[in-house]
Amino acid sequence: MARKIVITSGKGGVGKTTICVNLGIALARQGLRVMLLDVDIGLNNLDVVSGVENRVVFDIVDIIEGKCRPTQALVQHPNFPSLYILPSAHSYNVGKVDGNTLRAVVNGLSNNFDYILIDCPAGIELGFHRAVFCANEAIIVTTPHISAVRDANKVASLLNGYYLNEISLVCNRLRADLVLSNNMLKAKEVASSLNLKLLGIIPESDEISSSSSIYGDGIAIDEQSERAFNVLANNLHSGSNEMFDYTQKYKGFFAKIKNKLKRRF
Ligand SMILES: Nc1ncnc2c1ncn2[C@@H]1O[C@H](COP(=O)(O)OP(=O)(O)OP(=O)(O)O)[C@@H](O)[C@H]1O
Ligand SMILES: [Mg+2]
Repeated sequence: MARKIVITSGKGGVGKTTICVNLGIALARQGLRVMLLDVDIGLNNLDVVSGVENRVVFDIVDIIEGKCRPTQALVQHPNFPSLYILPSAHSYNVGKVDGNTLRAVVNGLSNNFDYILIDCPAGIELGFHRAVFCANEAIIVTTPHISAVRDANKVASLLNGYYLNEISLVCNRLRADLVLSNNMLKAKEVASSLNLKLLGIIPESDEISSSSSIYGDGIAIDEQSERAFNVLANNLHSGSNEMFDYTQKYKGFFAKIKNKLKRRF
């Protein structure tokens, strides 16, 4: 039976899909069988971000309408053989997708995987509830910005009504320079203000940002992001509590400047 984890945030654009894909890749690299499910029906882009858009034949709506079997709609990732994507539909009357049917599809596939990561739409409307209904754990994604943290707080209180086994937090897009100069909240401060377990930290990455704008995908190709996603995957899979130190490079830089100033004055 797979661990079924919904990746949610309340606020849009904070990195749910990016984290879903890159966490899935990090788990698949360990040989784990992972399925990514896009529940953002109508505004879906998990297939694009994971780089399999051109391989999609069937989608979740085809399964629900009985046009194909669930396993026929799965797209195997060309670079990570144990990673599969169950795509969503681009145009559909979203209201027609029933939560119970969706949950039955997910449960039917559950024995084939170790992890099912469910990419949740932004907001707290029907799509959010439908996605959470399919899961037994949740990861809340936030950036360290006040508006995102407020929405994460709202989502955390809604999730408490769902009898989930675990609700944890991933803090995304942290900038070492701003955190070290006290101009951005630390991930630990965000987690304690939300009273959530901090599962991982993903730093701001120019490579993720530019690969999503130039190539259309958001696969982390730089070494720092890859390490951050590996630490996150280990924490999730083995229950460890390691936090990726994304500030190391800047700490060295700040120390050098301090020493130079000391010598001068
Ligand atoms: N750590 C990061 N560093 C740099 N850019 C990032 C990072 N995480 C996400 N992004 C960028 O932020 C943008 C939004 O990310 P993404 O689509 O994953 O958010 P989302 O929460 O899924 O959005 P939506 O609510 O619309 O579904 C993308 O362009 C993505 O490349
Ligand atoms: Mg998304």
